[in-house]
Amino acid sequence: MVITKICCLGAGYVGGPTCSVIALKCPNIRVTVVDKNEERIRQWNSDKLPIYEPGLDEVVKKCRGTNLFFTTDIVKSIEEAELIFISVNTPTKISGNGKGRAADLKHVENAARMIAEIAKGNKIVVEKSTVPVRAAQSIMKILKANVSPGINYQILSNPEFLSEGTAIADLLGADRVLIGGEESPEGQKAIKELCWVYEHWIPSERIITTNTWSSELSKLAANAFLAQRISSINSLSAVCEATGADVSEVARAIGRDSRIGHKFLEASVGFGGSCFQKDILNLVYICECLNLPEVAAYWQQVIDINEYQKSRFTKGIIESLFNTVSDKRIAIFGFAFKKNTGDTRESPAICVSKRLLEEGAYLQIYDPKVDAEQIDYELEGASKKYEIHTSAMLSAVNAHAIVICTEWDEFKELDYNVLYDVMMKPAYIFDGRKILNHEHLTNIGFQVKTIGKRLHNGESTGMWETC
Ligand code: NAD
Ligand code: UGA
Repeated sequence: MVITKICCLGAGYVGGPTCSVIALKCPNIRVTVVDKNEERIRQWNSDKLPIYEPGLDEVVKKCRGTNLFFTTDIVKSIEEAELIFISVNTPTKISGNGKGRAADLKHVENAARMIAEIAKGNKIVVEKSTVPVRAAQSIMKILKANVSPGINYQILSNPEFLSEGTAIADLLGADRVLIGGEESPEGQKAIKELCWVYEHWIPSERIITTNTWSSELSKLAANAFLAQRISSINSLSAVCEATGADVSEVARAIGRDSRIGHKFLEASVGFGGSCFQKDILNLVYICECLNLPEVAAYWQQVIDINEYQKSRFTKGIIESLFNTVSDKRIAIFGFAFKKNTGDTRESPAICVSKRLLEEGAYLQIYDPKVDAEQIDYELEGASKKYEIHTSAMLSAVNAHAIVICTEWDEFKELDYNVLYDVMMKPAYIFDGRKILNHEHLTNIGFQVKTIGKRLHNGESTGMWETC
């Protein structure tokens, strides 16, 4: 089978960028991205794409209408495609068995049922969504139970490793592409077909092939390892604050060991994003189901430290502000879970904001890429004592404190002399991302607190300065 048409179910953060890059690099393949969400598809076909990713606009502009299409016509797209990516969401279950931990596979199951219902010819079905180990087996069961005579399916696992904010660069220059499939000759043939697609731009030595279960587990393992590094350094940031060590210096010192490496050692207010927590919870749940409680408890700690870090940071803010933030104006700089994305899923800013609102603070929120409606959605149920601003400067007016929740570059370039002038005194900055020049801020007159380092502000208030 030569792949000439690809269909992708799910036009989200993964399906959209991944298929745009496939279309860019494979002009001989017609790529159709489908979604049941009409509004999302309308946005993909408009000038304002539904997601913000550096470089994405250019790729979409170049390919859309040529070999890249966004549509809600799921039936036609499935019928025509030889290869179908399943890139639907796999959130944590919110009810029933495994509530709060297991991955909810209802969208993956629906996708498999749609394929089974619609397909009239052979298909390679590729699991791109992040799923529990052996999910491919369930997809195969559904497909086989509904198969029309003469149709053959092959299921491959091809997890996605892109990071938001750098998705296009990650896709263009992937460290590796992972493809898992059956060891049968048909399985190996399907693997080769998918390899051929990626080989349009990824050197073949970077394409790793494994059995299906290794591929599925490797995705959960990769996210667990990355998150574990953040929780490890964040746990040490607490030790630094208590001892006078500086977590950035510790990270630099250990990162120079080539066995450890320097990436993913930035201490922060805590990790966010739609996947780290969800995927580790899923891993924990799988371990519990496999009767491996020690392994489950080990990975659960990565989540627990992240919760600890978010609440430790917020507690430090309240304590520094003389143990009360009631009716104090606090500027929240950044609401996205990291820079260069408008995504707010599991953003630490939500947790920090909710906690401060609970304590009676009045928040003045600014994020360069997150819409006001999205902030309202995330803070639903919390006190309405907040306003959303269109610039960092406006959000700082009359504020008692600035809290940096996202590491946007523009926050580094602000004129903090001017900000200081418009704020209440003493003016505080809580740098949850360690991005500012703390010495410069202290010289201006700010009281500065950050993660993993004691700063000498001439006074001692709050847990961050006590030993
Ligand atoms: P998303 O919520 O942004 O997008 C999923 C899309 O699938 C939604 O638009 C939804 O309407 C659509 N959908 C659901 N069921 C459908 C169906 N039956 N037919 C057609 N469309 C359907 O999710 P996402 O962030 O793109 O993540 C998708 C998967 O990829 C998840 O499993 C996630 O864990 C994984 N992943 C995400 C990232 C990331 O950076 N966001 C990176 C790697 C892997
Ligand atoms: C992460 C992984 O990096 C991707 O490989 C994976 O494909 C993706 O999850 C997924 O499965 O969804 P993403 O969540 O988009 O990507 O972004 P990251 O760059 O990993 O950042 C996650 C969170 O950790 C952010 O809140 C970030 O600010 C935080 N972080 C990251 C730190 O606090 N310190 C660091 O050193 C690195």
